[in-house]
Amino acid sequence: MKTYTTLKLERDGHTALITFNRPKVLNALNTMVATEGLDAVQSISTDPSVRVVILTGAGRAFVAGADIAEMETKTAEEARIYSELGHRFMNALQDLPQPVIAAINGFALGGGLEVALACDIRIAAASAQFGLPETILGIIPGWGATQRTARLVGAAKTKEMIFTGRRFSSAEALDMGLVNRVVPDNELMETVRAMTALMCRQGQTALRHAKTVINRGLDLTLDEALRLEIDTFVDLFDTDDRREGMRAFLEKRKPNFTGE
Ligand code: COA
Repeated sequence: MKTYTTLKLERDGHTALITFNRPKVLNALNTMVATEGLDAVQSISTDPSVRVVILTGAGRAFVAGADIAEMETKTAEEARIYSELGHRFMNALQDLPQPVIAAINGFALGGGLEVALACDIRIAAASAQFGLPETILGIIPGWGATQRTARLVGAAKTKEMIFTGRRFSSAEALDMGLVNRVVPDNELMETVRAMTALMCRQGQTALRHAKTVINRGLDLTLDEALRLEIDTFVDLFDTDDRREGMRAFLEKRKPNFTGE
């Protein structure tokens, strides 16, 4: 696996683990993190041996937002470059063919919450804290939160978060549907790994197609999205994984998927 300065990219079997690794500044997102993060995501996207991706943070934060020290001196034009880079990173994360789980171990503020929102599933440690505090800095979220939060929890909750900048708990995040699950702090990685193990057992082609249908469907009309589901369901009948999965069931054995 490639090595980076601001993050760690590790492999554990079929899982790739990305750890934001600037703990002294609570993993704040500067240009280097965005550049390296985008590179890591792009390299994972073309690696068929990676079946699931996990993102987490080193130390006591998942990510405490954009690097305010770096942003402070930016001109408007530099801010555009930073925001567009962030969007490329977030879009690449969202569009990874593999399922992506955010293991939220601590602060997920501003850009940190935006990273989590670009993942497919969010599992939070009980002590994690969430928020979109950008307006106290005189800006708005610039890596996708105005749109991804609203699509997940609705416009009213999103407006409350952004207008107040208030930090809130994992329990509140769970209550509004911002995270899938909250677990005791010391069970976070174990819970995420148990989930990845389940995902790794499934037909990988099916799983990737399911992700595409769900993601793309959200941008279509219901009619178009249901048509996409039919077409994808049909396409999967021509795959080896489909033949193997059904045969294995009927022969009462575990399937041996090849991803073909
Ligand atoms: N950008 C740059 N540096 C940051 C940072 C950020 N987003 N978040 C934290 N840091 C730095 C702090 O400046 C501090 O550096 P120092 O040790 O050189 O003083 C270090 O990380 C530790 O943070 P600190 O504030 O001392 O920890 P805390 O436990 O008292 O507070 C937070 C934690 C997350 C509540 C607080 O750091 C914070 O509010 N961070 C900014 C969050 C934010 O606004 N994010 C959105 C940005 S758009």
